[in-house]
Amino acid sequence: MCGIVGYIGKREALPVLINGLKRLEYRGYDSAGVAIQSPSGIQIVKKVGKVSVLEQTLLENTPIGNVGMGHTRWATHGAPSDLNAHPHLSQSGKFAIIHNGIIENYTSLKKRLQQRGYVFKSDTDTEVLAHLIEEVYTIGKCTAEIAVRLALTKVEGAYGLVVMCEDEPNKLICARKGSPLVIGIGEAEYFVASDATPIIEYTKNVIYLNDGDVAIITPDDLTLKTIKNVILSPEIKTLDMEMDEIEKGGYEHFMLKEIFEQPKTVLDSLRGRVSAEHEDIRLGGLTDVMDQLISAKRILIVACGTSWHAGLVAEYIFEELVRIPVEVEYASEFRYRNPVILPGDVVLAISQSGETADTLAAIQLAKSQGALVLGICNVVGASIPRETHGGVYTHAGPEIGVASTKAFTAQVSVLTLIAIHLGYLRKSLTVERYHELVKELLHIPDKIAETLTLNDSILEMAERFKNASNFLYLGRGYQFPVALEGALKLKEISYIHAEGYPAAEMKHGPIALIDENMPVVIIATRDKTYDKIVSNIQEVKARKGQVIAVVSAGDTTIRQMSDYVMEIPITDEILAPLLTVIPLQLLSYHIAVLRGCNVDQPRNLAKSVTVE
Ligand code: G6P
Repeated sequence: MCGIVGYIGKREALPVLINGLKRLEYRGYDSAGVAIQSPSGIQIVKKVGKVSVLEQTLLENTPIGNVGMGHTRWATHGAPSDLNAHPHLSQSGKFAIIHNGIIENYTSLKKRLQQRGYVFKSDTDTEVLAHLIEEVYTIGKCTAEIAVRLALTKVEGAYGLVVMCEDEPNKLICARKGSPLVIGIGEAEYFVASDATPIIEYTKNVIYLNDGDVAIITPDDLTLKTIKNVILSPEIKTLDMEMDEIEKGGYEHFMLKEIFEQPKTVLDSLRGRVSAEHEDIRLGGLTDVMDQLISAKRILIVACGTSWHAGLVAEYIFEELVRIPVEVEYASEFRYRNPVILPGDVVLAISQSGETADTLAAIQLAKSQGALVLGICNVVGASIPRETHGGVYTHAGPEIGVASTKAFTAQVSVLTLIAIHLGYLRKSLTVERYHELVKELLHIPDKIAETLTLNDSILEMAERFKNASNFLYLGRGYQFPVALEGALKLKEISYIHAEGYPAAEMKHGPIALIDENMPVVIIATRDKTYDKIVSNIQEVKARKGQVIAVVSAGDTTIRQMSDYVMEIPITDEILAPLLTVIPLQLLSYHIAVLRGCNVDQPRNLAKSVTVE
């Protein structure tokens, strides 16, 4: 969703901002803009469309200056347009602002400002902030910083924002409440961004703002305080990220790179957590809460999108290995439906970005009702790991493609590791089974690498199905969530309608859709429901559906019945989702590329959904 970048220092600001905006493109957006403190005052250029469109416009009118900020907007209040794009100016043009998040009381604020003569040029909630700050500044005859802090006390909602004031040109004022901001520290220069990707090429020293923080930045100094003017001492952290992690490294798209990274990322998610002798599983982020986890009466998993699918896989695995009841819920439903949270409940929030607004709200609700809340998160230092009582990082590295791939397999491998560990500690798992599972889990990275050799044959399959209008994905047991994930991947990036279903449930509806034009992807690996899924394949074939089956190596029965087959290495049924999802990711990828879609930045989607 919206992205923020800011610069103050000795360099020309514009190239830094444009570079930063390009790094933020992956978050999903529909317009972009910049504001520069130039010798003639604040200059703003903003355009609907991609950053490249903005860049083109900037060739005709290039603002010069060493202080500036840029924004990528994902429309919430008001359609994507040049006028609604950020930055926004206050009435006199003295203040410019960029903002992520949503101002909830903007209607009442706007009405009052309009009554006092402020004229709005856009439909956004952000413009309210620009005028409000100016009003406080004018009436209070105060500094820009005081005006920003006072104005923010009147605001309800979420924000990560940067403000510039024409009267104080050597200054950026940043504030955070519910929407992340990171400040990079260079030598006599600072970088501001909504995540670390625009900063990493300049510096690894960063400060993450906390909710309620305000940072006042000049080229040589940074002051951190609360909105109520209490001075804070900034905690400088080192970014654990390398440049090559946010570049394509020779691949045509980030998504393909990330699919192919999975042997490494799954290994990274296990690294240091399983001892060589497999005798011990160490999960540092859970040590303090392990007793509560062992005695949990119920686990409630909350997540959105692909992370919710990882949660569903975890439900099957936890109930099998740990014998604790598990419920998996969309965070957006959980937060608004007055859920019953009982003593002994543990809430597990899963999120790649760690910033998903609904998941964060679900965490806050569960915490307010006294639950132990744990997080499974990929982005180090994000809001979710900071809001939870404990948790485990997935260590998949930055995921840039909007459609999640490596984050999913890292989530599933971490969740599996937790389940194996808990099963062992609760003695719901025999020692033999424990060792068997740990050993096989450590083989999974190699087996993913083997599965990736299907790539060329999947490309051929994609040629055959690229013009389909609908797809059905079926799976049973551990493979049902993978069917959902396969369908999600396809619709996200190729815009083909796809549905995932439990294979047996097909008879209660989707079977009506099956004819010779309907490709049906069936995950039919060898497990305890194998015979049942063979029957489901027959049901599809009887209605002339095109069957694309994901099978275990050496399977001949299903091969004979199916139109296309993708063979994965043999593994334990509990671990099979880590392999079966790979060909489905590749199939979606190739179909989307062949259809000419923007794979890494699909239309309307955002990587990090920071609004509810
Ligand atoms: C967006 C992304 C998905 C992601 C979902 C949840 O919809 O496009 O890829 O699965 O948000 O995000 P999270 O960061 O919480 O895992």
